[in-house]
Amino acid sequence: MLKGKTAVITGSGRGIGKAIAMKMASLGADIVINDIPQSEDADKTCEEIKSLGVDSIVVKGDVRNTADVQDLIKKTLDKFGKIDIFVNNAGVTRDGLMLRMSEDDWDLVMDINLKGAFNCIKAAARPMMKQRSGSIVNIASVVGVMGNAGQANYSASKAGLIGLTKTTAKEFASRGIRCNAVAPGFIESAMTDKLPDDVKKEYFKAIPLAKFGTVDDVADVVAFLASDMSSYVTGQVINIDGGLHM
Ligand SMILES: NC(=O)c1ccc[n+]([C@@H]2O[C@H](COP(=O)([O-])OP(=O)(O)OC[C@H]3O[C@@H](n4cnc5c(N)ncnc54)[C@H](O)[C@@H]3O)[C@@H](O)[C@H]2O)c1
Repeated sequence: MLKGKTAVITGSGRGIGKAIAMKMASLGADIVINDIPQSEDADKTCEEIKSLGVDSIVVKGDVRNTADVQDLIKKTLDKFGKIDIFVNNAGVTRDGLMLRMSEDDWDLVMDINLKGAFNCIKAAARPMMKQRSGSIVNIASVVGVMGNAGQANYSASKAGLIGLTKTTAKEFASRGIRCNAVAPGFIESAMTDKLPDDVKKEYFKAIPLAKFGTVDDVADVVAFLASDMSSYVTGQVINIDGGLHM
């Protein structure tokens, strides 16, 4: 389904990003792994991907930093000559009730989750415009759609990412570039492992399918949006949440 395509996935050393990278590799895409400079996972993930029979490189860098993002695009083009798929997955949480949330925690989450995606879209769109094709997929969150007490920074960043998705879709549609978002609900990962048990129980009660999601549940939908199987889909947000929000 993705044979011959080149996919760049930010924050893909572990978690959902890694699952997306592995899924796309299993469907035939060559993969560029990006993660923070300190990441040890990124190199291991790259080796796992190569064992699936596709090519892969690691380009470490912080999505907040425009020079790092330029480097990511340049090294991708040097190696593969094109970018067919770009997934904005890098993201963090710094949860807390609003009255106690520090300005630093607000800024950090907005900078990585929202400005990081803006930096990447701006840089990836240039080669995609030249190619007159490309698919951008942004990993938002269901809390960007419905809000969540204790996540003012995170929910605002993800709601912003949904707005950015729709604007990107409108600005670049005439150049053959699509842009969509997914809004995962509660997905079992390092990000949700650290939540207290009572919070997990409350989530569980609200999920009609009565199970938490897996990283592969997200990767399947992202692969569909990245592929030509969704060639008439742009500007959309697909919830992957077991029915939590409908
Ligand atoms: N886990 C969930 O339940 C859930 C639900 C909805 C949305 N999401 C979103 O999915 C994405 C992945 O989440 P995850 O659960 O796999 O989390 P994770 O913490 O396991 O993975 C996030 C990855 O992003 C990397 N990263 C962090 N800051 C970065 C930066 N500045 N530049 C480059 N890379 C950076 C981290 O090193 C890490 O490898 C995030 O955007 C998250 O908001 C997760």
